[in-house]
Amino acid sequence: AAIYLKDYRVPDFLIDRTELVFDLDDSVTVVTSKLHMRRNPSAGRITTPLVLDGGEDVKLIGVAIDNYTLPAEEYHINAEHQLVITATPDQFLLTVETVIEPQNNTRLEGLYRSSGMFCTQCEAEGFRHITYYLDRPDVMSIFTTTLIADGEKYPTLLSNGNEVERGVSDEGKTIVTWHDPHPKPAYLFALVAGNLQHISDTFTTSSGRDVTLKIFTEPHNIDKVDYAMGALKRSMKWDEDVYGREYDLDIFMIVAVDDFNMGAMENKGLNIFNSSCLLARPDTTTDDAYLRIEAIVAHEYFHNWSGNRVTCRDWFQLSLKEGFTVFRDQSFSEDLHSETVKRVEDVSFLRTAQFAEDAGPMAHPIRPASYIEISNFYTLTVYEKGSEVVRMIHTLLGAEGFRKGSDLYFSRHDGQAVTCDDFVKAMEDANGVDLTQFKRWYSQAGTPRVQVTDEYDEQAQTYTLNFSQMTPATPGQPTKLPVVIPVKMGLIGQDGSSLRFNLAGETTTETVITLTQGEESVVFEQVAERPVPSLLRGFSAPVKLSYDYTTEQLALLLAHDSDGFNRWNSGQQIAVNELQALIAQVQSGESLNQESALVSGFSQLLADEQLDSAMVALILTLPSVAYLSELAEQIDPQAIKTARDHLKGQIAKALSESFASTYERLNVQEAYQPNEAQIARRALKNVALSYWVASGDEQAQQALVNQFRNADNMTDQYAALATAVDQDLEVADELLASFYEQWQQESLVVNKWLTLSASQTSAEGLGRIERLMQHPSFDLKNPNKLRAVFAGLTQNVTLFHDASGAGYRFLADQIAVLDKRNPQIASRLCTPLTRWRKMVPSLSDPMKSALQQLAAGDLSKDVYEVVSKSLAD
Ligand code: ARG
Ligand code: ZN
Repeated sequence: AAIYLKDYRVPDFLIDRTELVFDLDDSVTVVTSKLHMRRNPSAGRITTPLVLDGGEDVKLIGVAIDNYTLPAEEYHINAEHQLVITATPDQFLLTVETVIEPQNNTRLEGLYRSSGMFCTQCEAEGFRHITYYLDRPDVMSIFTTTLIADGEKYPTLLSNGNEVERGVSDEGKTIVTWHDPHPKPAYLFALVAGNLQHISDTFTTSSGRDVTLKIFTEPHNIDKVDYAMGALKRSMKWDEDVYGREYDLDIFMIVAVDDFNMGAMENKGLNIFNSSCLLARPDTTTDDAYLRIEAIVAHEYFHNWSGNRVTCRDWFQLSLKEGFTVFRDQSFSEDLHSETVKRVEDVSFLRTAQFAEDAGPMAHPIRPASYIEISNFYTLTVYEKGSEVVRMIHTLLGAEGFRKGSDLYFSRHDGQAVTCDDFVKAMEDANGVDLTQFKRWYSQAGTPRVQVTDEYDEQAQTYTLNFSQMTPATPGQPTKLPVVIPVKMGLIGQDGSSLRFNLAGETTTETVITLTQGEESVVFEQVAERPVPSLLRGFSAPVKLSYDYTTEQLALLLAHDSDGFNRWNSGQQIAVNELQALIAQVQSGESLNQESALVSGFSQLLADEQLDSAMVALILTLPSVAYLSELAEQIDPQAIKTARDHLKGQIAKALSESFASTYERLNVQEAYQPNEAQIARRALKNVALSYWVASGDEQAQQALVNQFRNADNMTDQYAALATAVDQDLEVADELLASFYEQWQQESLVVNKWLTLSASQTSAEGLGRIERLMQHPSFDLKNPNKLRAVFAGLTQNVTLFHDASGAGYRFLADQIAVLDKRNPQIASRLCTPLTRWRKMVPSLSDPMKSALQQLAAGDLSKDVYEVVSKSLAD
């Protein structure tokens, strides 16, 4: 049954204070909950029963209201596992005792065990698996939490807020009480119990408050948390500097856990992280992972204001906190590192994965109008497109205007559970602007298309750009209205210079045009020559913009555009055009074109040692199979891969010597640091290595093996291994085996091994995947291990997209089994199968039957929603 945004009603009851006692034990955990409740004065309904959310895994022991133990006839559990109490006073203390079995919780929602420790994940609706509660974000309460446990086994006992009491029970158990003074919804509740080690540090806030910072891990990982601590301090400083937001408790804690459905969680004062998003050490962690860890630490910390102090009224508003917080973490990384590199990476990801979501059966606006299972809406649309929508507001208002808006938002709504409308309203009120039309971005799904044509009048020295926009239909939204699209742009002269132009009486070289109509034109005056337009600079809106550039024009922009993002994008566009032509040639059985305009462009890039190596590495990286699939009318994975391998090989052979010398030049000995200059150098070095190897040069293979064996850091070692696997070198098997041998004790490194092993082309076929799933290092309980193997499988074009459909059926079978254990993870694994309508006919049918086979089984809400929407017509 679907839930609709339009049906929102304020809660009938409020919970002013929540007192929880957990008696943690390896067999059963007893939870005693005391809720200080009253009827909600603004609900206006005084006869409704009290209905508390619960779960099938929660066993009710007893219920009391104000010391009166309710007899069985005064309450019942309904079909949705809710506790219904027929009659209550207007104000009362509700005591509920329940029993749960965290050790049997395989869903990893609520309270569960992960390698010897107890931990929680309550967002979105996990708290109801702990005890009966009003488990909705607009019920905010002050929590006091007491943990009772065997102090030998679980010396570390943590919850939200400050530790206020510590003692020993009659049976000798340790008792610790935590109090969080900030009212919060239950989804921000957390507890951790374990035998953990920690590192400590302090941060002094701008107003002079000393905050203790602690990061906890299992003992064997305590050598991998220093980087995260530094990242946390940088985040705290940045949020003060850029948003004026200070931390608000005496202590901030982070705990790493191995079994976790998502990346991390912003529980008040006690963030819990998937260990893959926190732990870092040079020999086990790649540069990409370092930057990702920093960004996620920042993201969760930033939620303290954008999410916790001001939270969501209901789960339809998820993008209120997630879109905004992703925008904040992206801006943080842009400020601390290369702005352009970060932007290119974020946009690549958006255009590959979010655009595919927009074009598929699960397409939804950043504020969905309905859902069956909210866990399915922690999506790239809500997060990444949500961030782009906030970024557009930033572009439209400017940095200062945006800051005025965010200040008003935080002060107006501190301590409240609010909506996306409230966020936009604060932006409007602080700046005296009207964002009514802009708000269509919150309710309309799909990626808008913008078509651009131009005219130049030499006599009048005027240049006209004609824009038209349309958004394709998405499921449930057949017609769309024009949206507000800020197009940041400039004009480039034939010599590559930025041309001056006059627009609305102002002379400049760069402007933001705000599109609002289906069709509109803009006339630039005093334009001295016919320009090449540089459009959508910095990717100023999440749209697909097309202008009919010639290859020469793209090459001019690649070489000279003042906007780094558009330089990169122009190079990508040349590659996309060539690859699309090659794909068509593969499909029609023609012989493949041997000319590429990229050869001369890349040759110049490699020759210029002054350029930013990180940018050069990005420009040299051909569009991924996933991105080319998103762009395709009909996806033919094998043809895409063949075309891409061909183009790469052709460039590699033509420039083999340049790649070799670039590799040699950058292959320097230095003590590893995850800093800007080194990361850039390693990125270009390893891209050069992959081309050099692709050229077939024997020496390149030797260099690769040497790098693999001698590297003192994971970035270089992994790059060598990944290239060996990707290029299908004979030595790949041997390197994979030695990699496992070396790193079998490091679970996060083993995940990399699993992915590469599963992605390798091999004669074993699906037997290889089965063997990996039987491997001692594999663990069905651990989402990271599952993701590792299935990421490898679905990237394995030959194996996964085999015309027999065996790859699709295999995935469907695995999903059906997993769904019984962990519906959230099972549901996410469905994504590749939801694309069946876009596949070439020979693959579309087998993919559809795999989904139908899945649909015939007994499914969780999570998988049911994805599968049924994918098959609906
Ligand atoms: N709020 C967390 C984050 O973005 C993600 C939690 C996701 N939980 C879930 N059940 N889907 O930072
Ligand atoms: Zn988040």
